[in-house]
Amino acid sequence: MNEKCCCGDHTMDQQFTELAPVLDKYAKVPGSLITILQKAQDIYGYLSMDAINYISQATGIKPAKIYGVATFYSQFRLKPVGKYLIMLCKGTACHVNGADTIEESICEYLEIKDGETTKDGVFTLNNVACLGCCSLAPVMMVKSADGDETYGNLTKDSVKEVLAEIRERA
Ligand code: FES
Repeated sequence: MNEKCCCGDHTMDQQFTELAPVLDKYAKVPGSLITILQKAQDIYGYLSMDAINYISQATGIKPAKIYGVATFYSQFRLKPVGKYLIMLCKGTACHVNGADTIEESICEYLEIKDGETTKDGVFTLNNVACLGCCSLAPVMMVKSADGDETYGNLTKDSVKEVLAEIRERA
């Protein structure tokens, strides 16, 4: 697999070095497509057409079929995520402690809905299930190249302050 990727600057193998071991393990295992797509999204944040083509070459599954699977399941993203991925917990503890109000506040402040990215590409919002720190409910985790930060005991105002602070350093 040494074809050029769409930018033409490097080969697919160079572009997908982290995905190659996943494909070595799963490409020929029947029924593994979802697992491969999940792992690719974990690595790159979304499924690009290049990634889909690369997976197609390794598995022998047609790109259109892979694309169809990726669009069928809402867990998969086909567009890049923002620099900061907001994972807002909608688990039970967070739900009873006002996660819906926090979501409204985020949506109003950033002018996006769950699954969307701000026009400036800074934030993507994703509602998720329990983040495992229910004592801090309501909670969100913000993922970025600098690492993950967890913000707990949020209020509709404090969440806006957190986002404003992040936007300043973005
Ligand atoms: S329910 Fe939100 S962290 Fe557990």
